[in-house]
Amino acid sequence: MSAVQVEAVKLCQSFRVGEECVEVLNGVDLQISCGETVFICGTSGVGKTTLLYALAGLERPESGQVLFEGVSLYEVSHVRLAKLRNSRMGFVFQSYFLLPELTVLENTLLPAMILSNRPTSRAQELLDQVGLGKRGHHLPAELSGGEQQRVAIARALINKPIIVFADEPTGNLDLRTGKTIIDLLLNLVHQEDLTLVVVTHDPHLTRRGDRWVRLKTG
Ligand SMILES: Nc1ncnc2c1ncn2[C@@H]1O[C@H](COP(=O)(O)OP(=O)(O)O)[C@@H](O)[C@H]1O
Ligand SMILES: [Mg+2]
Repeated sequence: MSAVQVEAVKLCQSFRVGEECVEVLNGVDLQISCGETVFICGTSGVGKTTLLYALAGLERPESGQVLFEGVSLYEVSHVRLAKLRNSRMGFVFQSYFLLPELTVLENTLLPAMILSNRPTSRAQELLDQVGLGKRGHHLPAELSGGEQQRVAIARALINKPIIVFADEPTGNLDLRTGKTIIDLLLNLVHQEDLTLVVVTHDPHLTRRGDRWVRLKTG
């Protein structure tokens, strides 16, 4: 039995939309073990992004706790939380979020530069692994969507995180490209022995992990 890496305890989140209060998370409990690949699925609007952001320390839930390696994410300082996210977690989003004015290599290096590192050889190695070894000097606009997502994956791994959070990583891609992106992500997390948490509305993807979880309304 592996140690628990992330634990959500009674997470609640609701949003006020006009007069109405929409309950999105209603006491969600979840445990994710070290090295596990978990797919969280559910229909659009059910609260997958909200849950992922809460788990990753990106958005404080209304109530409940997230323990990351035993540290309660929303009880530490902003500075400590930001450091923890940058050094221990990697992120991949549906819309890639590459900086358009930076090259592929610079985008890959960005989370490391925040720590005042410039591990160019690791960035190059990661770009080789995602199949973009020769595209380091290109700008994101010169790449296809699938290629941009490959850069985002390399960027997510640059600081040697222990966990990668991915929010609909194939959401903007055609079926075939999406499959290669998931293959790549799974290969890399296995190779680097990382935990992976993927959120998706695509029920076909959920079988690819060690475990899948369905989020239901409320
Ligand atoms: N900042 C916000 N303000 C108001 N409503 C929000 C906000 N963020 C999310 N919601 C609402 O919460 C629900 C869940 O959103 P989300 O977590 O993005 O769902 P999913 O990722 O499963 O599609 C949706 O109804 C959405 O409109
Ligand atoms: Mg979402």
